[in-house]
Parts: sequence; C-alpha cells; structure tokens
Amino acid sequence: MSARIVMRLTVVEAVATTPEVVRLTFAHPQRPELPAWEPGAHVDLRLLDGRTRQYSLCGDPADRSRYVLAIKREDAGRGGSLWTHDNLTPGAVAHVSHPRNNFGVAVEARRHVLIGGGIGVTPLAAMAWYLAAGGADFVIHLCARSAENAPLLAELQALCGDRLRCWFSSEGSRFDPVALGAPEDGVHIYACGPQRLTDAVQVTLETAGWPVEQVHVEHFAPMADENYKPEPFDALIASTGAVVHVPADVSLLDVLRRHGFAMPSSCEIGVCGSCECGYRDGTVIHRDVVLPVAKRQDRMMPCVSRARVNVTLEL
Ligand code: FES
Repeated sequence: MSARIVMRLTVVEAVATTPEVVRLTFAHPQRPELPAWEPGAHVDLRLLDGRTRQYSLCGDPADRSRYVLAIKREDAGRGGSLWTHDNLTPGAVAHVSHPRNNFGVAVEARRHVLIGGGIGVTPLAAMAWYLAAGGADFVIHLCARSAENAPLLAELQALCGDRLRCWFSSEGSRFDPVALGAPEDGVHIYACGPQRLTDAVQVTLETAGWPVEQVHVEHFAPMADENYKPEPFDALIASTGAVVHVPADVSLLDVLRRHGFAMPSSCEIGVCGSCECGYRDGTVIHRDVVLPVAKRQDRMMPCVSRARVNVTLEL
C-alpha cells in the first residue's frame, strides 16, 4: 500500500539490549551501501501479512553499510513487535522501506537537549551519533525503569560520556521538564517516548513560553481520543470538481482509494506522515500526531483526519 521503495534486507545481528528490547542490524545482501538517511528517520518494516510497522533508525547515520533498529516486545500491542522478535533472527530476510524523516535535527541550533523515555530513545540515539560526530553541544536524558530496562544504555554511555543523564524510576530518580527552565535562543529540545512524558515536556515548555519551533516531539502511538465521534462529510476534488462522500465509519483515505486515487500510506493511524495531502476551504479535524502545527492550515493526514461538513482537497 505504501509508495515507498521497499528493500529485501538480511538480518545480520540480533542482540538483546534489555530483557524486552532486541537490537536488529540489517544489511543488503549484495550492495555495500544502503540509502542515506538523516537522524530522527524511521523505516517501515513489512510483516508477513502485508501490514507495516514503523521503527526509528538508531545507529550511526554516517554508516551506510547497515540499518539498526531497536524493537521492544509489546505483549499487549498490535502484534508487530512479537512477530519481529520471533522471526527476525540472523539470516532472516526482512522487507524494509527507504527511510523517511518527520523528526529532524534543527541544524541551526547552538545546543540540543534530547529527552528519551524507554524505547523512545531510539531516534535520539541516531541524533546523538550525528551530533557527537559534528562536535555539537548536546545532552541526552534517558528515562527508564532501571538500568537493566534502559534500551541502548551501553552504547549511549560509550558514545555520549557525561553528556548522557540517566533517570531510573526504580532508584527514585525522575526527569522533571521544569528543569529545562525559561526559553533560550538557539536551544532546541527533542522528546520521544510514552505520551505522559511527551505531554509533560510539551505542556511544561509551552507554559514556560518556549516557541513551538524549538520543541520537537515524536509520537509512537495514535492520538488517545476515546470520546471523538466521527461525522460524515463531503470532499471536493480540486482538480476534477468531483465530490466524494465520506461516511462516518470510513476514513477519507479509504474513500479516496475507492474513487481511484492511488494514495500512499503506511501506518494508517496518523503517526508516520506517509499519506499527507493538501486541502483548502474547509475546517479540518486533525487527528494525527505527526503533522507540525505550522502545516495544519493547508495539509492533512487523510488516514485519520476528517472535516466538518466539507473540504476541498488539492488532488
Ligand atoms: S498512513 Fe501514516 S499518517 Fe497516514
């Protein structure tokens, strides 16, 4: 379903970094170099049944010979992590997309503050590789239950030295976003992890007056919004003048496909950014967690976002 190019890569290493997290290394069976990627990027991993899951690249972006992912086993999840833990062992072939980045490093920043909760540290680990190689000023906060449960801890210690700050709740130590203080020019803050952590960072920084352009958050999970009741609406296709009706129980993405539009997609839960399209003349109800605020006036994610009454799509 995705328009992204998918490669057949070989698992060359699988190492447990915590009791629940496996670090997988992939290489191309023939080519010495994989497509270039930027820190913060993720790939789609295609499961046997055609479904895809998104995982952040967590290795050194300068190392084109391999892709490294760290995947947490989620027993209560949607099944993707269990499949990868059980099937992606050394020698296995995996279908991996070209990388895509929704969580880039602000190259203009003079200092970077990275905050990772649990497995959310993965894109920040790639940023740490990049920032350390460039001699940038950065600090990385790693929040976990304990050292034993902290993903990538040993390699982050080796890479970051005293720029790594660990917060282990079992030892009574918790990261407090209030400590980030008042806004500072040139300082950019990046957070990824459980929603309670990313919400706390966002709310605290917003309250302290940090400009949204200096705060970067990546979410792994769809928007938690149990009380939302979808309503039907109409979408006018700008290029043809056709109007398509979107029933309350069908996504805009599905309706567009039924009308012959080859819409790319991947996660279909509003977290990856693959299905982004343009719109105008309508009130869109944004229900994704990936589109930056600055783009919401004229871009939307039709896999989850909808409109009030009607909208014109730039298709
Ligand atoms: S398919 Fe991932 S955001 Fe729409």
